[in-house]
Amino acid sequence: MCGIFAYLNYDVSRERRYILELLFNGLRRLEYRGYDSAGISIDSSSSSHNDSPLVFRQEGNIESLVKSVYQEVSATDLNLEESFSVHAGIAHTRWATHGEPAPRNSHPQSSGTGNDFLVVHNGVITNYEVLKQSLLRHGYTFESETDTEVIPKLAKFVFDKANEGGDQTVTFSEVVLEVMRHLEGAYALIFKSRHYPNELIACKRGSPLLLGVKEFTEGQNKGSSYNDMKFISKNGHPKELFLSSDPHALVEHTKKVLVIEDGEVVNIKDGGVTILKFEHGKGSDGKSLSRPASVQRALSILEMEVEQINKGKYEHYMQKEIHEQPESLTTTMRGRLIRGGSSKRKSVLLGGLKDHLKTIRRSRRIVFIGCGTSYNAALAARPLLEELSGIPVMMEIASDLLDRQAPIYRDDTIIFVSQSGETADTLNALEYALENGALCVGITNTVGSAIARNTHCGVHINAGSEIGVASTKAYTSQIVVMAMVSLAIGADTISSKPRREAIIESLLNLPEMKDLAQSLISEQSLLMFGRGYNYATALEGALKVKEVALMHSEGILAGEMKHGPLALVDENLPIVVIATRDQSFSKQQSVIQQLKARKGRLIVMCTEGDAAAVCGGSGRVIEVPLVVDCLQPVVNIVPLQLLSYHLTVLRGYNVDQPRNLAKSVTTE
Ligand code: F6R
Repeated sequence: MCGIFAYLNYDVSRERRYILELLFNGLRRLEYRGYDSAGISIDSSSSSHNDSPLVFRQEGNIESLVKSVYQEVSATDLNLEESFSVHAGIAHTRWATHGEPAPRNSHPQSSGTGNDFLVVHNGVITNYEVLKQSLLRHGYTFESETDTEVIPKLAKFVFDKANEGGDQTVTFSEVVLEVMRHLEGAYALIFKSRHYPNELIACKRGSPLLLGVKEFTEGQNKGSSYNDMKFISKNGHPKELFLSSDPHALVEHTKKVLVIEDGEVVNIKDGGVTILKFEHGKGSDGKSLSRPASVQRALSILEMEVEQINKGKYEHYMQKEIHEQPESLTTTMRGRLIRGGSSKRKSVLLGGLKDHLKTIRRSRRIVFIGCGTSYNAALAARPLLEELSGIPVMMEIASDLLDRQAPIYRDDTIIFVSQSGETADTLNALEYALENGALCVGITNTVGSAIARNTHCGVHINAGSEIGVASTKAYTSQIVVMAMVSLAIGADTISSKPRREAIIESLLNLPEMKDLAQSLISEQSLLMFGRGYNYATALEGALKVKEVALMHSEGILAGEMKHGPLALVDENLPIVVIATRDQSFSKQQSVIQQLKARKGRLIVMCTEGDAAAVCGGSGRVIEVPLVVDCLQPVVNIVPLQLLSYHLTVLRGYNVDQPRNLAKSVTTE
């Protein structure tokens, strides 16, 4: 939630218009992380860098900010052509946690008049009340209701105190290191200061942050789509440096990135980058002390293409991502399934798990932990994992596990399922499981994410970038990965061979559901009843309708229908019943009969060719191809994703940025 972005050009001339457009574009790429208000700060003058930086903040989405900035620029005669050979700009798009969406609560948050220190923040400061009270006692006044405002004010306090003697000796990094010592909670922060022109500082604990580096060498094309770029290298290479909450805002500029780690303070100055971190040790007197030490880190290369983050021929990201599922599933399985041959058995290869399979097979329990869609995907995979491993498989919603402080044992295997790999609840549950000594496995879509880094082993789902806030292709890839994990954990015995081979064959044929998506494009139409493998499909279908179409919808375990929900049934309420062929089929047929007897308004999802048998010609029917039972949820969810997409468009709501939601939930 919230996206932060910064841009610093060094020794390469950039006009104010270019800098503004670059910041706006960075925010557009991060908008899916939060879209209820936005803001930026830029330098006021290229000749006197000690002038107060300019700050623009606006309620609403990025385009509202863009409009208000250009209105203000024309009202104040700010020169858009003014050229800066070095300039540091910061930007923020917000998902409100403390304080309603309003300019005063938008970021950058300021230390006060003069904007001595400005901060953009992603995360939550949990001890902000204590810090605020202390700053109030020192005469500071607050204008926002945010937790963030304490940070720039604390920076000013630290700076003023260090410079009480007169000369400014304290460095920007020292100010931020001191501020960090007082902060509790999760954060990624970028600081800009009037006292340290042409410098930016970033630091993080818990929330993700990347630095991107673009270096111009002699003879390289330095052209740009925004404006003319004048190459004015004198010493060394001119650079453009970027900071961002995630790679989407970096990939169009550079693929060279540095992943900033917890506790680190990154100083960008004179085109160079220094990383500092507190090192804990003992002093000569034996007392423990911590002092900042510099950290060396090599740049990594982003594995992402610009095309992945554009909508292409589609109107919405959600629509694009639903249709991408045949390709995303192929990528998820690439190199991991052995088709077998005359001498070879069909099998599964998961490099990230192979050294831990023996330990997993000896586990007392396997526990899936996740939130929302990721939880639903795990629920869809549970029966297969139970069947193939013979180990009890438990389900936990991350926040509920933490609320209960439920027992976790050293001989448990805990599988953390998260597309972003950054969800605060799931991360907290991971910390809890690690403390309790369990083997922790991560299943994420984000290489280098906190969950990927902090688990003992894991598997990436490789579904590609998912920008629509409502998850679609990541869900199906998660189920497929968990099916492969189940095959890898389960014993490859003679008796299980036919079943295993049928699943692997079905996995290899899954991507052929492209035509299904096309043929269902005009379906629109809530209760959803499912059971067995497809209980998760009912939950996930209902979640999609709820979150994007803003319509109340409920996924119900069909076995529970007679214990309450049946009271809701009449001729008006649309009810989706999932009745594809598997071991629950005959039970779902009697559910349909009971609903019909009460004149229920039915939409039945059944296997191709079953329509007449299942609903006898009445009600609407969605036919889907038959695949092996444990993979049927991957096929069955597609019409429900399309249903929620079309319902949303028809109802006139924003498909990619549903009200009040954000893609990556980094607060509890
Ligand atoms: C809904 C959706 C959410 C996420 C949930 C967990 O479409 O995407 O329910 O699944 O917020 O996020 P991750 O998977 O990133 O841990």
